[in-house]
Amino acid sequence: VKICRTVEEMAAYSRQNRSSGEKLGLVPTMGALHDGHMSLVKHSVADNDTTVVSIFVNPTQFAPDEDLDEYPRDLVADSAKLEEAGVDCLFLPEPNTMYPEGYKTYVIQEELPDALCGASRPGHFRGVLTVVLKLFNIVMPSDSYFGRKDYQQSVVIQQMVTDLDLPVHIHVLPVIREADGLAMSSRNRYLSLQERTDALCLYRSLCAGRDIIGGGETSAAAVTREMSRILEGTASSRVDYLAVVEPDTLKDVSCIERPVVLAAAVYIGNVRLIDNLSAGPRI
Ligand code: PAF
Repeated sequence: VKICRTVEEMAAYSRQNRSSGEKLGLVPTMGALHDGHMSLVKHSVADNDTTVVSIFVNPTQFAPDEDLDEYPRDLVADSAKLEEAGVDCLFLPEPNTMYPEGYKTYVIQEELPDALCGASRPGHFRGVLTVVLKLFNIVMPSDSYFGRKDYQQSVVIQQMVTDLDLPVHIHVLPVIREADGLAMSSRNRYLSLQERTDALCLYRSLCAGRDIIGGGETSAAAVTREMSRILEGTASSRVDYLAVVEPDTLKDVSCIERPVVLAAAVYIGNVRLIDNLSAGPRI
């Protein structure tokens, strides 16, 4: 696997590998790779002539009181998995490569970042969009791959690509779950054994919400009430948000007449987990 650490090296590698119009897939990550990331990688390797994976724990998407310093880092295991999956190149920039002294420019999007995770993590999507745009400019992918677990992230990135006419095709791939339903996340490794069991309440509450919508319930308030009831049954859980939103605008829905997304963020102990499910009214 080729390793690039500077912007110049990375851009030169991409130019060389796209010189006759070859397809280049980029999978942007923050490392601590799990099967969710690896599913993105496998799709990229299958679809493209070249696959680049970036590993960069992006400081601008963490608030000062968040887990930037504790965010899991495991480059040895990550590199082994990526090599085995047939990845061609790893981009491993340092923070001062991406944000050198004097850095001043950020991507601000209207409305979509104010919903869901953006409401409890102000500035988070400004950091995500900024680093993703920089990665697109440096790596120049034809295709880029994101997981649907970060549903809002996939929507804001697609919106940026559309609004700024970026020449990259965005693929959003399904949530990969553990056998018992817990969505895979790098943050799952913070959970104690007891919290790992408790964390299942998140997926169970989403499934319950989806099922009552499928059973004919059209009141979003009734759906979130039932979801809260399930979450309250787990002592270590604390709800950050529970929402029934329109899939494209992320606006809250009150009467469910069309397909919606159920989205939730829940603290299990000190670990904040997110997940989502599509749900549709009975036709
Ligand atoms: O989803 C992530 O891991 C990050 O938000 C991303 C897209 C790599 C940007 O830092």
